[in-house]
Amino acid sequence: MVGSSIEVIEGDITRQRVDAIVNAANPALLGGGGVDGAIHRAAGPGLLTECRTLGGCATGEAKITKGYDLPARWVIHTVGPIWRGGGQGEDALLASCYRNSLTLATRHGIRTVAFPSISTGAYGFPVARAAPIAVREIERFLAHTTAIHRVTIVCRGPDTYHAYRDAVEELAE
Ligand code: APR
Repeated sequence: MVGSSIEVIEGDITRQRVDAIVNAANPALLGGGGVDGAIHRAAGPGLLTECRTLGGCATGEAKITKGYDLPARWVIHTVGPIWRGGGQGEDALLASCYRNSLTLATRHGIRTVAFPSISTGAYGFPVARAAPIAVREIERFLAHTTAIHRVTIVCRGPDTYHAYRDAVEELAE
């Protein structure tokens, strides 16, 4: 099932009708700009109220809340690495965001998950480098479990979309 188990689309992650969407958050877990801001706006104030009870989140880790006014039932908040040139373990930390988010999803019986392109916005991680890391980590996870039925990577803009599409195609070869 290599390659075919990951779907890549262009769109708005807040509108995805999946069990869980993943938020590209910051360690405070109190909202922000980018996809974090969009998710909090779409979910409504209940999301922030619950986030306040979580005590933050370390880079590479993931925590879960309800989805409130979102179509998705759950939000998995993960904190990607800030790009500092590639020599500070950024690749491994990015991979752990995907792995820990999917692990948390399986613990909650979640079967469909949508990811944004973690760290490639405000955190500056080059998308051409991030996409293969994300796709490889998701494929590795899906290869050893049937608990997750579908993973969708929701890209905003053509450059991000093509980076992830290419990464999925290269993996399928
Ligand atoms: N749906 C899907 N993708 C989106 C959406 C959306 N509604 N809005 C933004 N994106 C994309 C961006 O275009 C980028 O490709 O999400 C990707 C991640 O960008 P950021 O949201 O900036 O996330 P990140 O780079 O991980 O930086 C996280 O930014 O918003 C703050 O609180 C957040 O401090 C944290 C930092």
